[in-house]
Amino acid sequence: MGYDVIIACDFSSKSDTLQFLDRFTDRKPFVKIGMELFYAEGPDIVREIKKRGHRIFLDLKLHDIPNTVEKAMRTLARLDVDMANVHAAGGIRMMEAAKRGLTKEDGTCAALIAVTQLTSTSRWMMNNELGIPGEVTDIVTAYAKNASAAGLSGVVCSPLEAGMIHDACGNQFLAVTPGIRFADSPADDQKRITTPADADRIGSDYIVVGRPITQTEDPVSAYERCVTEFCKQRSRL
Ligand code: C5P
Repeated sequence: MGYDVIIACDFSSKSDTLQFLDRFTDRKPFVKIGMELFYAEGPDIVREIKKRGHRIFLDLKLHDIPNTVEKAMRTLARLDVDMANVHAAGGIRMMEAAKRGLTKEDGTCAALIAVTQLTSTSRWMMNNELGIPGEVTDIVTAYAKNASAAGLSGVVCSPLEAGMIHDACGNQFLAVTPGIRFADSPADDQKRITTPADADRIGSDYIVVGRPITQTEDPVSAYERCVTEFCKQRSRL
């Protein structure tokens, strides 16, 4: 897997999404399709975007018993997505089952990553509502180690945690990070944010960027700015 900027296509309909993607004529960005769009439009939206030449991160965050997750992943494997995810809270057996399900007959498998703790989870909530004691960063690290033990490719985490994840699980283990803002753009509802350049410095492998690209007058320029800032230290793109 490479190193790239992923645009979070948080639109509610196929027409809005395709209209947005039509603007990208030179380069076909890696895009993230989440629950909102997938539940609204079904698997056809994935096929359509794939057909247009984009790589796809299907962000459905599966979490169920291992057998159910394996079968669901087998269905998603047929969509030929490039990245998919599960909740690490489902445990090692569930993550292993997800990997088996996502592995195609020829032995290839999309990057499978795990959500450790949602960025909407505070320490208080984790300790008192979820009944998990300790610091959020300790649980994030422990869950990342479980994901690594289950053979997953990486985790979704805050860009501020990317270095910690690599220290715990190695540099090949992917840190896929939302929570990215340009120095001069609003934080919106994101709390622990970094710029694309800082995400690169701290160690993100992929940054997931939504509103700073989708909600601007000129999304193509915003995307190119993101790529330039994130990738300027490296030469993989
Ligand atoms: O618009 P914005 O750049 O905040 O979008 C970030 C994207 O990453 C959204 O699709 C959001 O759901 C997703 N995400 C996140 N924090 C997580 C996991 C996913 O912001 N912990």
